[in-house]
Amino acid sequence: MSEPAIRIFPNLDGLSHAVAARFAELTRQRAREGKNFSVALSGGETPQALYGLLAGKEFSVPWERVHLFQVDERCVPPDHQESNYGMIREALLSRVPAAAPNFHRMEAESSDLEKAARDYQEVVARELASPKDQWARFDLILLGMGPDGHTASLFPGTPALSEKSRWVTPNFVAKLGTHRLTLTYPVLNAAVEVIFMVSGARKAGTLREVLEGPPRPEQFPSQAVRPEDGRLEWYVDAAAASLLKQAAGRSA
Ligand code: 6PG
Repeated sequence: MSEPAIRIFPNLDGLSHAVAARFAELTRQRAREGKNFSVALSGGETPQALYGLLAGKEFSVPWERVHLFQVDERCVPPDHQESNYGMIREALLSRVPAAAPNFHRMEAESSDLEKAARDYQEVVARELASPKDQWARFDLILLGMGPDGHTASLFPGTPALSEKSRWVTPNFVAKLGTHRLTLTYPVLNAAVEVIFMVSGARKAGTLREVLEGPPRPEQFPSQAVRPEDGRLEWYVDAAAASLLKQAAGRSA
């Protein structure tokens, strides 16, 4: 892959507008070719503004052509306040009737997480028409980064970091005392395009380690996202970028 592009915006609003514009452009381009577009969405707080923008009138997205998936899910029922699906439903799906039928939910409330992971892998394979001997190749994966450097539900020092065969796996996160379901590195790294969205001063030190520090992916799992034949872009706000050497004097 080529070197990651790093784009710095004054604040989360600017960053969210830029990602929404990219999302709209990519999906429209695909629709003009008469093809579907596949995108995996993160949970957490950072993308909520983006999903709100995509649901509004400012950006035109051909939703009937867009297949939506989850990057990861917490092991709670869909109506729980910590559910990533719940957040995506509230911010986007409930406001865009055309998007809801093409959303594929991770059923992480299941008592059999291994089966839930296998089932989700099958859904992805079917919808993306992935050949059996290849990794699923999403057109776009939207990722966040936690203050500890995790991304998706790939947390520092957890078993899923070494998953080499499955596309979706349960992951026990000891420091949270809970399981998650998550896409794995091979799938993240097979995507056509991966966009990280990072906002806020509390992530500045970790962002510097991830982007400018020595390779330590066990400690900073976001470092291991390196699409092999795809494009990697970091959309960050000025507060998160404040400790980057390469940020000095730059903005998008
Ligand atoms: C989740 C995620 C996770 C998230 C980061 C950043 O389930 O929380 O999908 O990987 O992207 O934790 O979260 P914030 O945007 O809330 O800081």
